Amino acid sequence: MIVAIDGPAGAGKSTVARALAERLGFSYLDTGAMYRSLTWLGLQRGIPLDEGDRLGVLAREFPVSFDDAGRVFIDGSDVTSAIRQVRVDRMVPVVAAHAEVRDVMRERQRELGSEGDVVIEGRDIGTVVAPGAEVKVYLVADPAIRAGRRQAERPEIGADALATDLKLRDESDAARMRPAADAEEIDTTHLTIEGVVARIEELVRACIPAER
Ligand code: CDP
Repeated sequence: MIVAIDGPAGAGKSTVARALAERLGFSYLDTGAMYRSLTWLGLQRGIPLDEGDRLGVLAREFPVSFDDAGRVFIDGSDVTSAIRQVRVDRMVPVVAAHAEVRDVMRERQRELGSEGDVVIEGRDIGTVVAPGAEVKVYLVADPAIRAGRRQAERPEIGADALATDLKLRDESDAARMRPAADAEEIDTTHLTIEGVVARIEELVRACIPAER
C-alpha cells in the first residue's frame, strides 16, 4: 500500500509521515531529501543550477540513497545534516523545477516506493509519482504557523528572513503544489502531530482488508 503525503514546507509532512510509518510498520520515503541532496551536490561541484540538462545527468549518475536509520547519501557522502542548510532551502526549488531532474527523481521514487507498504512524502506524490496511491493526504497550515514551526528547525535564521524564504519557496513550488483531486486535505494549524497521525491512520485502516 502507498500512503502519499503532500503539502508545503512547515505543514507537518515530515514529522507526521515519519511517525505514521513507524506506527504502521511501513517504510518511509522523503522525496524532498532527494531534491535537496542533488542541490547540495550541484552547489558542491559548482554546477550552475539553471542548467537542467547537466543536473539531470548528475541526478542519474549519483542516485540518492537512504539507510535504515533514515540517513541520506549521495556520491558517497552522508548529507543528512548538510541538506537542511539555509542555502539548500533557498536553491532547491530552482533545481526541482527542471523537467530533466524531475524525470530521474520520479523514476527513482517509484522504484524506492515499489516494495511493500510505504509512506511517501513530497509535493507531487498523489498527483504524479503515485497517482494510484490508496491513501492521499494534502497537509496545509496557516503561513504564520508554518513559519513558526520552521523557525524551530532553523534557529540560525531570523524570523522575517525565514517567513520571506517560505513565501518565495511556495511561489516557486506553486506549479507542483496542488492536491490530487482525491486527496483528503487536513489543516494542521490547530492540530497536534498525534491528532494528524491518528486521522491518517484511520484512512489507512479503512483501506486495509479485514483479513490482513
Ligand atoms: O520539508 P520542506 O517542505 O521544507 O521541504 P522538502 O519536502 O524537503 O522539499 C524541498 C523542496 O524540494 C521543495 O521546496 C520543492 O522545491 C522540492 N520538492 C519537489 O519539487 N517535489 C517533491 N516531491 C519534493 C520536494
